[in-house]
Amino acid sequence: MHTIVYDNPDQLARSTAEKIIGTVEHNPNALLCLAGGETPRLTYRYTAAIAKDKGIDFSAVQFVSLDEWIGVSTSNTGSCYYFLQQMLFAPLDIPSANIHFFDACAVDLDAECKRIDNIIGQLKDIDLMLVGIGMNGHIGFNEPGVAVDQAAHTTVLDISTQQVGQKYFLENTALQKGITLGMAQFMQAQTAILLASGITKAAIIKKALEEEITNAVPASFIQKHGNAFVMLDMAAASLLQ
Ligand code: PGA
Repeated sequence: MHTIVYDNPDQLARSTAEKIIGTVEHNPNALLCLAGGETPRLTYRYTAAIAKDKGIDFSAVQFVSLDEWIGVSTSNTGSCYYFLQQMLFAPLDIPSANIHFFDACAVDLDAECKRIDNIIGQLKDIDLMLVGIGMNGHIGFNEPGVAVDQAAHTTVLDISTQQVGQKYFLENTALQKGITLGMAQFMQAQTAILLASGITKAAIIKKALEEEITNAVPASFIQKHGNAFVMLDMAAASLLQ
């Protein structure tokens, strides 16, 4: 695990965007799993801008969902799909056939998990998986206590996740359950990036990186990942030794 600390959120975002771009330059057919959430917003803005500037062809890149709020449709501005559509898929002209996202309104959610697992299996490994970290140490919707050998699954969300999640929505929204890739898929990703910015993430970053590896803090498993980068700004890194 490599921990890299940047002076400010702008440098963090620029460097993370360059890592995404580098992955695609190296492998134009890469399979990417990119988180929604506030943390990577600037990273994606830079990714779209650099790709346009340098003329990087994203047309054969494949994208797979990290997580979604169960019951929230793709047209809801709070869905991960909507966010990535705005930030990356539309600006980069990604063909819809290359976008493999959970349908969080599917009647059979177990079948939906299997569908996404199968797509990842067919496309081989995830080349780059970029995640944020929840205030409770979650990765995607792998909440504290998760079975870490799981692939895609549905879960009841922590109360803290339900409350913090309201920030993505224009109106109060029921957010009891989530659908997510599992820790097994995170650990199998060729390259994993954990991105965190701001003082509010400092305590959980310290716990995840410097304390024991435990499913009580799912992000702590990044310590065991063979090729992981923890990319932080100074504020998020401020409690690290
Ligand atoms: P955030 O979400 O980027 O909006 O802080 C992170 C997460 O909950 O995984």
